[in-house]
Amino acid sequence: MSVPTQTPGSDRVVPPTAARRVEFISLSHLNPSTELEPIPTRGIDLAYFRRYVRTLEEAGYDYTLLPYGSSSADSFVVASAVGQLTERIRPIVAVRPNTAFPLVVAQQLATLDQLTEGRAVVHLISGGNDAEQARQGDYLAKERRYARTSEFIELLRRAWTETESFSHHGEFYRFDGFGPGFRPYGDTIPISIGGQSDEAFEIGGRQADVFSFWGEPLADIRAQIERVHAIADAADRPRPRIWVTFRPIIDRTDQLAWRKAYDYAEKIGATFQKGAYGRQQLIGKDAPQNVGSQRALEFASRSEVYDRALWTRTAAVTNAGGASTALVGTPETVAAAIVDYIDVGADLVSIRGYDTLADARDYGRYVLPLVRQELAHREATGQRGTLQADHPGAFAPGFDADALAGAR
Ligand SMILES: Cc1cc2nc3c(=O)[nH]c(=O)nc-3n(C[C@H](O)[C@H](O)[C@H](O)COP(=O)(O)O)c2cc1C
Repeated sequence: MSVPTQTPGSDRVVPPTAARRVEFISLSHLNPSTELEPIPTRGIDLAYFRRYVRTLEEAGYDYTLLPYGSSSADSFVVASAVGQLTERIRPIVAVRPNTAFPLVVAQQLATLDQLTEGRAVVHLISGGNDAEQARQGDYLAKERRYARTSEFIELLRRAWTETESFSHHGEFYRFDGFGPGFRPYGDTIPISIGGQSDEAFEIGGRQADVFSFWGEPLADIRAQIERVHAIADAADRPRPRIWVTFRPIIDRTDQLAWRKAYDYAEKIGATFQKGAYGRQQLIGKDAPQNVGSQRALEFASRSEVYDRALWTRTAAVTNAGGASTALVGTPETVAAAIVDYIDVGADLVSIRGYDTLADARDYGRYVLPLVRQELAHREATGQRGTLQADHPGAFAPGFDADALAGAR
């Protein structure tokens, strides 16, 4: 297949920004309800959940995210269960700092880390919606919530590392004579930051080990990564690892995948309009207050398709409440698109489908190995492999998603 020279990945040179390794994340689902086929339940289906997390482990994911919302299951308790149901996968606990005193969260995380022999990770959510924060008694404005997160991070790290007792009289927290605290299994626990506000970048760049994004067009994410790096460099600290999240839609051919994508967008849009799926009930249909969702909607209003495989209609029809931008195509096209993001510096890739359990299994079988193979090839030869050149997806001249999907 002839590929125009401007197609990213069509030459052999590995760009200097490229990450040399990648690890995969997928969110854990507690029951079979999906946006495609919502089931009116908020509960845990234990047999399903057990199967889900074991599937993730067997499929080769490295981490699983346990999300948090005021009406969700408690992410800590679920993370502890993940630890006991699996051997290798690392639970990422989503924590909102308003929900517990930082020293208590440090203790919970250290306990989880000991119980999983060093697998705990924490993802700090400062809160993107005032009404949702108020449901649990948090009335701070978002900038103040981020300032609190900054103090929270400082205290987590001190609780894990100080060898003597210490006192703290800060802006948000005050205590005397704490410690030494319960220690993690390893030296420390990775701290990730979610959010796209200016404050999220400041705190993430200066204090986080990981900075996370929802899937954005390559040019935009490249600029955002540079922004995180510049803040970390100015603070003279190691650059955070970069996490990027997608909702892939794959099938045997690009044409089948685009047909499926159009069908899915219709179904999940109808689910959203009915308010029939968990988290969407909390977020609602008003203009989102969180910058991450605002950005996703803005990208969606400008174009449906970006780069090799990024598709925004799934965000548009769900008010971008949560990770909602898709990658569409064959496993090869989607793997090549993931490598495009690795090329701009992402080294943690979160993928979760709309047909959640079946997709987790399929990605493990058909997508993860292709990405890992490309990185192994680069490691062994110092050169790019052929994955990106051979699977141009929407970079192909004349590409037309509507025509492929049979919508025109
Ligand atoms: C990868 C990722 C995972 C997230 N997980 C959660 C979650 O579990 N619960 C939640 O309320 N918000 C979650 N968020 C949303 C944001 O972190 C949240 O909206 C943020 O606190 C404020 O957003 P803003 O800075 O973009 O305005 C997640 C965001 C990202 C990027």
